[in-house]
Amino acid sequence: MPEPEENILTLGIESSCDETAAAVLRGGRVLLSNIISTQIPVHRKYGGVVPEIASRRHIVNVIPVIEEALQQADIELNDIKQIAVTYGPGLVGALLVGISAAKALAFALDVPLIGVNHLEGHIFANFLSHTELVPPFMALVVSGGHTALIHVKDYNHFTLMGQTRDDAAGEAFDKVARVMALPYPGGPEIDRLAAKGDENAIDFPQALREKRNYEFSFSGLKSAVLNYLNEMKMKRVTVNPANVAASFQKAVIEVLTQKALEALSEAKLDKLVLAGGVAANSALEQRLREAAETHGFHFYYPNKVLCTDNAAMIACRGYYQSRIGMFSDLRLNAVPGLSLMDVKA
Ligand code: KG4
Ligand code: ZN
Repeated sequence: MPEPEENILTLGIESSCDETAAAVLRGGRVLLSNIISTQIPVHRKYGGVVPEIASRRHIVNVIPVIEEALQQADIELNDIKQIAVTYGPGLVGALLVGISAAKALAFALDVPLIGVNHLEGHIFANFLSHTELVPPFMALVVSGGHTALIHVKDYNHFTLMGQTRDDAAGEAFDKVARVMALPYPGGPEIDRLAAKGDENAIDFPQALREKRNYEFSFSGLKSAVLNYLNEMKMKRVTVNPANVAASFQKAVIEVLTQKALEALSEAKLDKLVLAGGVAANSALEQRLREAAETHGFHFYYPNKVLCTDNAAMIACRGYYQSRIGMFSDLRLNAVPGLSLMDVKA
């Protein structure tokens, strides 16, 4: 007798950047374990992720992380019925470590392999935090590498409304933090510092604010912050870093909020789902929660631990792919530039 779908155990593996992660999921929504080994302290001294070091750390960590995920889920390797792994976007060497481990295990256990788009994974993190959530909805994906609005029509049909032309929101946070001499990753540092500042102290630009334009651009904002800091230095004016952080953060949040509201209204949807590392930003969450109350839509965002990179979201996306037979074979390769344009309309 085949296993009922709601009991099927999926092992998720994630290694696209600087987190080595494994998770075990029962059915589509019951998370049995979620292990994340972060390399942030290793990369911090370089001010960002060093790809070669990331790959080497993934090699050391991947098997122990998988073993811990099985142990915490209180299951044996043989109980795993399918393996979902991130195949892009991300760092090629880093992705290949997770993919190789997943292929080896799928072959040895003779179970299906499922290649997962990391960005779709971020969206699916919400299904784990909100078991009642079902499509259709509008997803605002804000991560270190991407910023996009995606109309999620059902579990396997997505339409891209628009994405960033240049820097991603998280990238802008990290770059601004770097020039302010804050440690990597800059997003959480700016978040903390901004809470002590005045968001109206400096008027930073908000790009592409015209209606029905769902593209984003954050490189002008980043340059405006750099120019401001340089100008103040030349004039020997002492800047208040908390005010700079708060004003920069406000410019990002206002653009994200305004475009999300318009996208919701154009697609006639009443659910907004936030996803990606920047979803952990407390001011963004608060702003969207307020907007949801004012405009009467439902707002969802993942638990903090599921906002940044993890394998639970990969297992969840993999489960829904398996239900429509979207499996991979052992030729699965890393696609570092896998884009949101590849989503199925
Ligand atoms: O989704 P993620 O873990 O990795 C990618 O797929 O890119 O996102 C990482 C990004 C980094 O840019 C980090 O600075 C940002 O998410 N981030 C935050 C916060 N926590 C993480 N940005 C703003 N506020 C935060 N609290
Ligand atoms: Zn990510």
